[in-house]
Amino acid sequence: MSIDYRAEIERMKRELDVTVVAHYYQRDEVFEMADITGDSLELARRCQADSNPWVVFCGVGFMGQSVKVIAPHKRVLMPKIACCAMARMIDGSYFDESVEYMVKHGIDKEQILPITYINSDATVKSKVGEMGGLVCTSSNAYKIIEKGLESGKKILFVPDRCLGQNFAIQMGLKSCVIGAGECDPREADVICFNGFCSVHQLFSVEDINFYRQKYPGIKIAVHPECDPSVVLAADFAGSTSQLIAYVNALDPEQKVAVGTEYNLVNRMRKGNTYVLSATKPECPTMNETTLEDLYRTLKSIETNEPINEIVVDEHTIYWANIALERMLAIK
Ligand code: 13P
Ligand code: SF4
Repeated sequence: MSIDYRAEIERMKRELDVTVVAHYYQRDEVFEMADITGDSLELARRCQADSNPWVVFCGVGFMGQSVKVIAPHKRVLMPKIACCAMARMIDGSYFDESVEYMVKHGIDKEQILPITYINSDATVKSKVGEMGGLVCTSSNAYKIIEKGLESGKKILFVPDRCLGQNFAIQMGLKSCVIGAGECDPREADVICFNGFCSVHQLFSVEDINFYRQKYPGIKIAVHPECDPSVVLAADFAGSTSQLIAYVNALDPEQKVAVGTEYNLVNRMRKGNTYVLSATKPECPTMNETTLEDLYRTLKSIETNEPINEIVVDEHTIYWANIALERMLAIK
């Protein structure tokens, strides 16, 4: 007899002390089952405030890890421990090399303030915390960089070069990317690691021109993980939640093309909303989680044999938590 996954998931959610969490990029079938949905910042905040001891996180590794770091008493399981490709571009040793690069180019270590995008491993967040730095997300990066600048230090921004450059442009700051052309840290305010999101690299200025030619007056809204040339050419850039709010506030007759992950754009208001790409911009790792995986994970709590539990060592939790809390303290 086949299992009715939906009905079983609903039953276990009622019977177990568990909260199911999903990022906007999850497949619809999984997303519909979640108790908490949101962008990275909202998910971190809401999971911390949630009282259930169990969290089943449908997303990518750094998101589940972040919950474990800010609420270590919780048991966090992930139906698939799928890694964000951008987060995998930097580890502790690449972070150390970036700091060394700045030191070699004449900046004292004490004069460096590292900021890591939340899309990074807990070990990187921990190193950032130890150096007095903090975390940001795509929805609060402006505020976090602004706060960071108050220290009078140079900002080392990891791992997303696009996010770092986009906010530097918006704030009128000078930026450069280590390993991409000339990058003299003495000449820049924001020094970026050379990481990127392969999904958001799919959107181009040609895509924007195509839509503007086809539908004069169309609005273009993109995620700040897109290339700076794309963000500069767009009408709006924002986090996943900010993109949803932007599109919802438009007149229903206003056409809009959105440059972010497919599952989210496909769930936006129907009619007059387009995916800003000729290819289907799916995040492969976000897409790995299925309804069956969610069912199995909840079942593992029910049978007291938890699977795919997020484990982070104490030292990493201590410093990564400081980096995350510094961010959460900034309203
Ligand atoms: P948000 O913080 O906007 O949800 O973005 C997360 C992400 O991974 C975008 O690719
Ligand atoms: Fe990571 Fe890009 Fe997927 Fe976001 S869309 S989770 S940055 S790989």
